[in-house]
Amino acid sequence: MKNKPANPFITVGYLGPEYFCDRREETDRLLKAIISKRNVTLISLRRMGKTGLLKHTKYLLEKQKKPVQVLYLDLLPGMNSKDLLNGLSSALLRLKNNEKNFIEKALGLLSNLRPKISYDALTGQPSLELKLESANDIQYGFDNLLHILSELKQDYVIMLDEFQQISNYPEKNIEHMLRTVIQTYPQIPFVFSGSSRHMLEPMFKAANRPFYQSSELMYIDKIEETEYRNFISALFLAGGKKIESQCISEIFRWTRLHTFYVQYVCNLLFEKKEKVIDMSLLKEVFFQIISSSEPLFTNYRNLLPSHQFQLLQAIAIEGEVSQPTSSKFISTHNLTTASSVSTSLKALNEKEMITNDQGRWLVYDVFFSRWLEYRYGNL
Ligand SMILES: Nc1ncnc2c1ncn2[C@@H]1O[C@H](COP(=O)(O)OP(=O)(O)OP(=O)(O)O)[C@@H](O)[C@H]1O
Ligand SMILES: [Mg+2]
Repeated sequence: MKNKPANPFITVGYLGPEYFCDRREETDRLLKAIISKRNVTLISLRRMGKTGLLKHTKYLLEKQKKPVQVLYLDLLPGMNSKDLLNGLSSALLRLKNNEKNFIEKALGLLSNLRPKISYDALTGQPSLELKLESANDIQYGFDNLLHILSELKQDYVIMLDEFQQISNYPEKNIEHMLRTVIQTYPQIPFVFSGSSRHMLEPMFKAANRPFYQSSELMYIDKIEETEYRNFISALFLAGGKKIESQCISEIFRWTRLHTFYVQYVCNLLFEKKEKVIDMSLLKEVFFQIISSSEPLFTNYRNLLPSHQFQLLQAIAIEGEVSQPTSSKFISTHNLTTASSVSTSLKALNEKEMITNDQGRWLVYDVFFSRWLEYRYGNL
């Protein structure tokens, strides 16, 4: 695998199984589905670990005795179905495979779409651009891509991360087109992944949508606490440091055990020169996080209507709120009326500033929540 990182607590990407905690059940379930050619849809809160899980599964699939090759594509940067198709064909070009004249064959099959190869100046990675002028071109291109894969001797899986993006594409019927083509190639399983529950879930759960019942839904939750605790202790020890058990409990409480935030706190702690991580160092790091994000968070206050910001403050101060329209909550936090709270709640939810976890409202970004609590909690 790659070189040993200076800091074992990664906050972007995937560096191999040594730096990836647990997720054994989830990985196992995903591997089984892919090997049995079933489609899966991964859903979780943002920053809980979907992309990490996809990359970990990719690593394991490609290392198997009978490897399964993975075409992974992040749909976040793309704006439309052309970007999706060009992204997929570029990923196809970068696949490792032993087929003779693979690239020539692929380009031959796509020749109607005048494929153009270019090479990234920095990484040397090839990209493929197709001439896509109509909805028919897109369908033809997608069909041919899957056809090329289906003819290869190895097994393949296509992972589409941030799949809810396709609902924002300007082209009509893209869902329908994708579904139609995908189901003609049952030998190529798909993993769809995304965080926007209110966009992704209806795509797969509503009877009138093309992807209805076409894949099994898999929810990614928090990492199991004991596993995470052992993982953190071990990585500190391997770096010649010791973290007190009480500190780990406090990190889990402060970050709600939300993966990215746990990783981030541990990353900052690891960077400190101290060999023993105790509560006072941890408090310092919490304060460091809150104060370094201050300019960004202050800006939210300028961007949001004042009632919405007030409601955010109230939720953050309480930590979690199950009855936001109750008279007690409204009067404690001067939120005027139940109907204004309902309106603000809806607006904040649409902006993904808050989220509902099993009936309890929370400020979505954990660090923002802690900042609000710190700044306004004692007024
Ligand atoms: N099992 C894990 N062990 C250690 N670190 C992890 C694990 N899963 C994810 N991470 C790290 O946590 C951070 C957030 O994870 P990731 O990007 O996978 O979340 P995500 O659900 O895809 O987020 P988003 O919705 O924003 O795309 C990343 O830095 C990732 O490296
Ligand atoms: Mg992701």
